[in-house]
Amino acid sequence: MSDRTIAISGASGKTGFRIAEELMAYGDRPRLLVRSSSVIPNTLMKAEHVRLSLQDPNALDSALKGVDALVIATGARPSIDLLGPMRVDAWGVRSQVESCLRVGVSRVILVSSLCAGRWRHPLNLFGLILVWKRIGEQALENSGLDWTVIRPGGLSEREETLEEEGVYWSGPDQQESNSIPRRLVARCCLEALNTPASIGRILEVTSSASQPITSLPDALMSIDR
Ligand SMILES: NC(=O)c1ccc[n+]([C@@H]2O[C@H](COP(=O)([O-])OP(=O)(O)OC[C@H]3O[C@@H](n4cnc5c(N)ncnc54)[C@H](OP(=O)(O)O)[C@@H]3O)[C@@H](O)[C@H]2O)c1
Repeated sequence: MSDRTIAISGASGKTGFRIAEELMAYGDRPRLLVRSSSVIPNTLMKAEHVRLSLQDPNALDSALKGVDALVIATGARPSIDLLGPMRVDAWGVRSQVESCLRVGVSRVILVSSLCAGRWRHPLNLFGLILVWKRIGEQALENSGLDWTVIRPGGLSEREETLEEEGVYWSGPDQQESNSIPRRLVARCCLEALNTPASIGRILEVTSSASQPITSLPDALMSIDR
């Protein structure tokens, strides 16, 4: 149990809402940062939420004031707008980081992606998304904040049999395929928040039933930077 207020941006997304649910189950108070058109799932209706644009620094500052940490789960939704990844995954992350610096939020977790930074990858057909994701990561890494980047593999909606499934944690640029259910990514974010040794680390995560269940503190003892 804890007594933290944690902001989650992109909390209307399929990973974001699970992060908020996991934080609530743990005893944190989530503050959902969503845009004006976002749909919030029923399970989170009672959670505090703030509607804003990532391009509005004043709105971001007042939404982030007083929180103990921010989890960034925004990401451009697939569309014909090929500038979405640049706007959301690079500049949107950067504006959230700048706001944290202004209002004194020091702990930030960013949900990024395996292969962030790669130029040659089929996912880049959507607006060079992996390139822009790395630029977002770098804005956070260079900020001086207490950051952790979680890079998941392909995301799934599966909620069954997760208790028996282990997460394969690795350092950067070690994994390039495999998948992980969004619920486990949400739990990885919570574990990172609770693990000070994850500060300053890029952690890639995938999962499978054959992977032994390992806590993040244990995994960190054998992960290269
Ligand atoms: N799909 C995969 O297999 C995969 C693999 C690895 C990593 N990832 C990354 O993991 C993260 C979570 O993915 P997901 O599929 O769970 O997310 P998602 O369901 O697509 O949700 C994206 C979230 O970002 C918000 N968002 C999008 N554009 C925005 C904007 N211009 N301003 C503010 N908020 C905006 C969305 O708000 P609305 O609800 O208002 O649209 C939503 O809350 C993303 O960064 C994604 O790129 C995905």
